[in-house]
Amino acid sequence: MMAQVVGGYFTSHVPAIGGAIQRGEQQSAYWKPFFDGFPPVRQWLAEVRPDVAVVFYNDHGLNFFLDAMPTFAVGAAAHYDNEDEGWGLPVYKSFTGHPALSWHIIDALVGAEFDITTCQAMKVDHALSIPFELAWPDAAAWPVKLVPIAINTVQFPLPSPRRCHALGRAVGKALHSWGGRERIVVMGTGGLSHQLEGARAGFMNPEYDRFCLDHLASNPAALTAHSAEQVAELAGTQGVEILNWIAARGALGDAPQAMVMRNYHLPISNTAAATMVLEPVCA
Ligand code: DHB
Ligand code: FE
Repeated sequence: MMAQVVGGYFTSHVPAIGGAIQRGEQQSAYWKPFFDGFPPVRQWLAEVRPDVAVVFYNDHGLNFFLDAMPTFAVGAAAHYDNEDEGWGLPVYKSFTGHPALSWHIIDALVGAEFDITTCQAMKVDHALSIPFELAWPDAAAWPVKLVPIAINTVQFPLPSPRRCHALGRAVGKALHSWGGRERIVVMGTGGLSHQLEGARAGFMNPEYDRFCLDHLASNPAALTAHSAEQVAELAGTQGVEILNWIAARGALGDAPQAMVMRNYHLPISNTAAATMVLEPVCA
């Protein structure tokens, strides 16, 4: 049997989630509507049993800073450490990499004329650790190997939604040409609408969020019709993290996906938080 993409897991990665977990507040009035989205995610993961996660996320100043900002960066390390870039979060378990699969993806992306940055050493921040902690809260070690793919959602100019989707599609093709037997889950983290700074700080846009959640599974082209600037206008300057979802959706391929679960609640900290699981229609 060849490697198999079992589906996609998408979630917001708000740092305050880490504090809520640390304090055991998952059932509080404030947090319950968000955490209630995760039993179905965990059940799905237990059923599809992935052993690799290919994760589209954005770094928030831990590994990359404004002085050197790759548009697309692919990790090729054997090991990734989490660190807290300043939120006061616990430091989570380290991640085991999958260098052979990383290099296969890198070869395929460069072959497809994506001018990516390759990272043989890379730290990962809350955008990666929080979604893992939400998915596998009781794991002694993470049950999947990691291939991290960082997209610049932090500093303009941003890649366009169409380019992010194309990157994801190319990653998806690479997964299908990989000779291994792994079961692969694709992840997209961040979003949905939020803006942390400036005159519009606190901005959220449920209408655009609903548009994204309504179309991601069966018509992702709706999301790629916007420019990056339009997404910043619609989603807020941090809501552009939807680019990570769009790339992850691309990696699931062109066929419509079945929606396993969907959850949306606002606000979680300053963010309209969403969680979704998609899987191939005939998985
Ligand atoms: C918040 C959301 C984020 O995606 C992030 O990276 C940092 C903070 C927030 O809503 O507080
Ligand atoms: Fe973020």
